[in-house]
Amino acid sequence: MERTLVILKPNAVQRSLIGEILARFERRGLRICAMKMVTMDRGLAERHYAQHLGKPFYDDLVTFMTSGPSVAVLLESEGAIRIVRNMVGPTDPAVAASGTIRGDYATTTGHNMIHASDSVDAAGREASLFFTAGEMNDYSLAVKPWL
Ligand code: RTP
Ligand code: MG
Repeated sequence: MERTLVILKPNAVQRSLIGEILARFERRGLRICAMKMVTMDRGLAERHYAQHLGKPFYDDLVTFMTSGPSVAVLLESEGAIRIVRNMVGPTDPAVAASGTIRGDYATTTGHNMIHASDSVDAAGREASLFFTAGEMNDYSLAVKPWL
């Protein structure tokens, strides 16, 4: 089993799309291990996006991510990282296919609606930024044998 960290960015919350986006992951068969609404401070946003420090979009990215509440969600399934990245679509919504989250709800790279971990290492690091071990719930979905 693999876990991946998703963040519904502040514009997803403002546009009342939390439920719609979470429903996609639930329908796909991903298990929600942990979830919380969080207004990120600059320190948390900078740690989360540390790999982008120094890039031209970094300051705008951190400012956007701290502009209001986000929803952090830890999802689990076999192959969760690739599955969720494929559901999210490419970084630039202009090239994201309809049917992907960015392709259905976003128009600009700066407000592309959702974050998803891009590797096992990133998923572990990001999960621990948002959740303590005690907040990661261990349970089985009743439908697990049918996934
Ligand atoms: P994310 O980390 O948010 O899931 O997005 P991603 O993997 O698809 O893209 P990444 O390269 O990690 O970039 C992180 C976020 O920075 C903004 N960005 N702007 N103007 C630009 O060229 C540019 N490139 C990236 C986007 O908001 C992207 O989600
Ligand atoms: Mg990324």
